[in-house]
Amino acid sequence: MTHNDFDGFTVIITGAGSGIGRATALELAARGAYVVACDIADTVETLVDDITALGGQAKAIRGDITNQGIIDATVERAIDLGGTLCLVNNAGVMDNFAGAAYVDDATLERSLAVNLVAPFKMIRAVLPHMREAKRGAIVNLGAEASFRGGASGVADTMAKHGLVGLTRNTAYIYAKDGIRVNLIGPGSASTNLASGFDPFSIDPDHGMDAITPVHQSSIRSAQPEELARVIVFLLSDAASYVNGAVIPVDGGWLAG
Ligand SMILES: NC(=O)c1ccc[n+]([C@@H]2O[C@H](COP(=O)([O-])OP(=O)(O)OC[C@H]3O[C@@H](n4cnc5c(N)ncnc54)[C@H](O)[C@@H]3O)[C@@H](O)[C@H]2O)c1
Repeated sequence: MTHNDFDGFTVIITGAGSGIGRATALELAARGAYVVACDIADTVETLVDDITALGGQAKAIRGDITNQGIIDATVERAIDLGGTLCLVNNAGVMDNFAGAAYVDDATLERSLAVNLVAPFKMIRAVLPHMREAKRGAIVNLGAEASFRGGASGVADTMAKHGLVGLTRNTAYIYAKDGIRVNLIGPGSASTNLASGFDPFSIDPDHGMDAITPVHQSSIRSAQPEELARVIVFLLSDAASYVNGAVIPVDGGWLAG
């Protein structure tokens, strides 16, 4: 624990039990933040144990972020802790790169619920507290699929494009309340998200189309810490005039 620039901050991170969320939680805790970590998986408890062992402060909420009761419990826990409230809408699920012809209702609804509607509901829940404090920062986890049509399946692409709208609208409307909202779009990151996934399992016609460009190029996958550092910057006071930005963090994939 060396830096203290997040002393007095309380940061809610959804999907903090793995990958980018876990890396972000560890970095923020190391810099003095109190982390309120929410995840559907029990790995969130391991994260809190790890942060505590390193001398940091964190609390775990185990539950499904699409459940309004879990959203309320997470925000209430953070408010009880006090401090400058921040939110990282990070929890996400994959759609196995299927085109519209192969997406059933359950897959579509789950993707939109976790990747888009839950971030909206989290924002709705934190906004009254941030507006009262006249302060707060939010980062939404988009994806390459926030910017282009050929980088994921249709459900994920719909959700990640939708997050751009959520980011820009909320950033613009609540700028006057001192609240900043930004989005980062990772390209390919080495996490559990895509492990074991088979691009042909649902859509044999087009499954591979979405990932071929990046896999055939010289663009490497990111380590979760490389995304976490950008998220931490956007939450920090160093980014005080960055608001409504949608930022590819993809090693150059979008540039190609
Ligand atoms: N890994 C990539 O290549 C990549 C690329 C683009 C965007 N992203 C985005 O980054 C974010 C983080 O993904 P990651 O790569 O770290 O994946 P990950 O699978 O390692 O972590 C995601 C976490 O979210 C949790 N989660 C999923 N559904 C949940 C729910 N309903 N309620 C609570 N927690 C839930 C999972 O249990 C998991 O711990 C996601 O929004 C993802 O779409 C990742």
